[in-house]
Amino acid sequence: MTNQTKGREKARRRLDRVAIYPGSFDPLTNGHVDIITRGAAIFDRIIVAILHNREKGPLFTVQERMDMAREVFAGEPKVVVESFGGLLVDFARQQGAHVIVRGLRAISDFEYEFQMALMNRRMAPEFETVFMMPAESYTYISSRLIREVFALGGPIAGLVPGIVEARMRGSRKARGPRA
Ligand code: PNS
Repeated sequence: MTNQTKGREKARRRLDRVAIYPGSFDPLTNGHVDIITRGAAIFDRIIVAILHNREKGPLFTVQERMDMAREVFAGEPKVVVESFGGLLVDFARQQGAHVIVRGLRAISDFEYEFQMALMNRRMAPEFETVFMMPAESYTYISSRLIREVFALGGPIAGLVPGIVEARMRGSRKARGPRA
């Protein structure tokens, strides 16, 4: 790449509208995939930001969650997968993001999301939070419910990407049958 092309590429990147989509993603669900895909259609770049939370006994490590998300979006250059700790707004600033994307499934999500969006705005007024709705067929899906159904031996096909389902089944096999 010549210096001139590099310079043009840099200038173009400065104009990019960058969104950040934060969450635990333990595991990544088809609802998340739907929101990321919709986000990628609107923004120049969407950063899937996986939180290093201190929850005990996660289903997957943050590295595993990143690997799976990267595999799911391998053919989509607009989707970037990262992890973060600390405040979301600090990470969003560091990444040069403009917008925080959150999915809204139902009214029950609203209160928590509203509080978070306003707290984030108080700390960093430069970011807008944009709420996106997944397809109706995903409105009842949550990572927590998927973990519970799976732990109790229920079916999760169609609720998570194939890669995630295979990894979940693999980890169960490695751990041995349920007691
Ligand atoms: O998948 P989740 O649990 O709904 O995602 C919640 C998340 C990661 C968006 C939220 O907990 C978060 O932003 N955590 C980072 C710490 C932070 O900035 N807290 C203040 C939020 S107002």
